[in-house]
Amino acid sequence: MNNSDYGPLAPLIGTWKGNKGTDVAPTADNSEDIPYHETIIFEAAGDVTNAGEQHLWVIRYHQVVRRTSDNEVFHDQIGYWMWDPEQQQVIQSLTIPRAVCVLAGGTTSTTPNGATQLDVAAEAGSDDWGIVQSPFMNSHAKTTAYSHHLTVDRNTLSYSQSTMLDIYERQFDHTDENTLTRSDSL
Ligand code: HEM
Repeated sequence: MNNSDYGPLAPLIGTWKGNKGTDVAPTADNSEDIPYHETIIFEAAGDVTNAGEQHLWVIRYHQVVRRTSDNEVFHDQIGYWMWDPEQQQVIQSLTIPRAVCVLAGGTTSTTPNGATQLDVAAEAGSDDWGIVQSPFMNSHAKTTAYSHHLTVDRNTLSYSQSTMLDIYERQFDHTDENTLTRSDSL
């Protein structure tokens, strides 16, 4: 096995740091923009075979996000990226410690200058790419949709994501974006 088996996920493998993040989060009567910095570690996790026929290549990741103002961790996320070469499909599964799990599916493409793009999405209620959450979150802060766009080009990784919430009796587009640099190559 070598890293090229991971297809479009291969460029992710490593440790990334970025300090230009912006989170837009809901408050009871409005929203707040919160600057953040973060570390994401992506590790090669081998391959699996499902039902004797589907072959997935797997990257495991851990994302730790700190508020710039006080350096406190305010978001922690664990998940996998998976690549199905046969279907040319990219899959992201993630868990956050608010009792919310997402399974998002999508596609990959290459830009004219050779950067790799990953685009995945999920929706609450979908049998395929869905969102599962606790009874409390379902009734008070329900995640109804998730989409994530990631671009990786050698030593630069950037992402933007939208997490739609039903919270405080309104729909809220909770967004996050950041640009990270490969820190294990420095
Ligand atoms: C870089 C990524 C993310 C950051 C920095 C972040 C940060 C935040 C912040 C600051 C809040 C406001 C509540 C608080 O102060 O703790 C919040 C709320 C929330 N986030 Fe995120 N979030 C991120 C990604 C996600 C993702 C991927 C999901 C779900 C798939 C999610 C689901 C929620 C939910 C359900 C709430 C509502 C809880 C509440 O406001 O009481 N977030 N997030």
